[in-house]
Amino acid sequence: ITLYVPRDAVALGLGANRVARALFAGAERRGLDIKIVRTGSRGLFWLEPMVEVATPEGRIAYGPVTPSDVDALLEAGLTLGGAHPLRLGDPETIPFLARQHRLTFHRCGVIDPVSVADYRAHGGYRGLEAALRRDAEGIVAEVRGSGLRGRGGAGFPAGIKWNTVMLAEADQKYVVCNADEGDSGTFADRMMMEGDPFNLIEGMTIAGIAVGATRGYIYLRSEYPQAFETLKEAIANGLRAGVLGDDVMGSGRAFHLEVRLGAGAYICGEETSLLESLEGKRGIVRAKPPIPALKGFLGKPTLVNNVMTFTAVPWILEHGAEAYAAYGQGRSLGTLPIQLAGNVRHGGLIEYAFGLTLRQVIEDFGGGTRSGRPVRAVQVGGPLGAYFPDALLDTPLDYEAMAAKKGLVGHGGIVVFDDTVDMAAQARFAFEFCATESCGKCTPCRIGATRGVETMDKVIAGLRVPENLKVVEDLCEVMTDGSLCAMGGLTPMPVMSAITHFPEDFSRGGQLPI
Ligand code: NAI
Ligand code: SF4
Repeated sequence: ITLYVPRDAVALGLGANRVARALFAGAERRGLDIKIVRTGSRGLFWLEPMVEVATPEGRIAYGPVTPSDVDALLEAGLTLGGAHPLRLGDPETIPFLARQHRLTFHRCGVIDPVSVADYRAHGGYRGLEAALRRDAEGIVAEVRGSGLRGRGGAGFPAGIKWNTVMLAEADQKYVVCNADEGDSGTFADRMMMEGDPFNLIEGMTIAGIAVGATRGYIYLRSEYPQAFETLKEAIANGLRAGVLGDDVMGSGRAFHLEVRLGAGAYICGEETSLLESLEGKRGIVRAKPPIPALKGFLGKPTLVNNVMTFTAVPWILEHGAEAYAAYGQGRSLGTLPIQLAGNVRHGGLIEYAFGLTLRQVIEDFGGGTRSGRPVRAVQVGGPLGAYFPDALLDTPLDYEAMAAKKGLVGHGGIVVFDDTVDMAAQARFAFEFCATESCGKCTPCRIGATRGVETMDKVIAGLRVPENLKVVEDLCEVMTDGSLCAMGGLTPMPVMSAITHFPEDFSRGGQLPI
């Protein structure tokens, strides 16, 4: 009897290890011979820990399971897929999952993440096989033709970046994965690394072969200890299985991969400070140009992409650029892994073609707020993203459509707030976050964020509100125009969107002298 219990950080936080132990103990008492496979999560977080059992009719899921449910579940015949109030049936038919376009995440929560055999049994390595049948130009052309854009947030066309690194002349080139997933409300990179790390390893290997890099690094944030262990285990198994190392799948091509841990700085998600940190230095932003594609890690041409960019690639190579580009709209092609969090009933991962509106995400998938109160604000794209009011919730998730409303898609994180949110406090928080995380290299960000906190404090206290709001606006203008990187450059987005869309939260008091 095979049972599946996630080892994903969210499931662990909700007691998955205790559930696994209770299942073992309960099965032993009943003389049942069970095997438990620890999987990633399917990303239906309100149902975690979700336990699945293999039956002749396919997998049957139960959830959310607590250790105290286990005895009753075993009595009800969980190992045979028996009836119980927690029985969810075939997990793939749960509407939240059934309605998605899971091109990148289809194995997540299904397979044993560290098993090369399981990965291959579920379609893994077909992308690399296809890549190995082509030359470098052919691989890059496929990525280019798919319309894939950098999923870290900036949306730069991946194929153009790959082409730049491929054409750069150097004795050594590198592939670096940005796994410093620092945005609030985001978890897609983590889920992938914990649930299907070989998808990332395969994507990076394809990239290495395409651009001519024999070494790759995954720069992982230290706040992801489970992902760290899973990646290390997967890489060791990959080396043993011959899908990494000096002779990748008997092709005579070399690709070596290492994981490097960050030390908790948000700014190390910015690619140039990431490279500084990877070189063992303090994470301070480098001025661009030169772009890392030409002069990156140790001064060599370096392909830096996000986890979600690399993991889209195996599917593209296996199925072809056209098949990928059939999803999405306009210049936003393929699928976006949307991460739904905050005050929402059904939080989790939604992989869907670009074009879904924010309202569809929050209502159709999320089921509205968990508190049952009306949605008041939605922050899209992390702490540097805009706050949208109800009136803008029909905006489709698409790079251009979001930009047209002065927002951004970012890394696809959506955080929902109900009508108890204080938007002046949120605007202050944006400045405070920037003041804490600024690398300090440029003045608009280093000084502007701190002045922003002080000025917002005055606004919140009701001191000379119109004048101080004008100061905030001026600070935002200088930060937008004068900052060296997106940290200082985008902090005005949450601040100004809060002031523009929720002015009533900024208009207390007004005329007191400072
Ligand atoms: P950027 O627009 O400066 O660069 C985008 C990428 O394209 C970089 O890798 C750059 O090196 C590359 N590039 C630019 N011109 C190129 C050329 N001609 N040839 C080859 N490559 C070229 O944006 P940046 O500063 O890298 O990223 C900002 C974004 O990061 C924001 O929009 C934000 O959404 C996102 N972000 C994501 C976070 C996360 O946790 N994933 C956290 C914070 C911000
Ligand atoms: Fe550093 Fe902020 Fe300037 Fe970016 S904007 S380089 S984080 S000081």
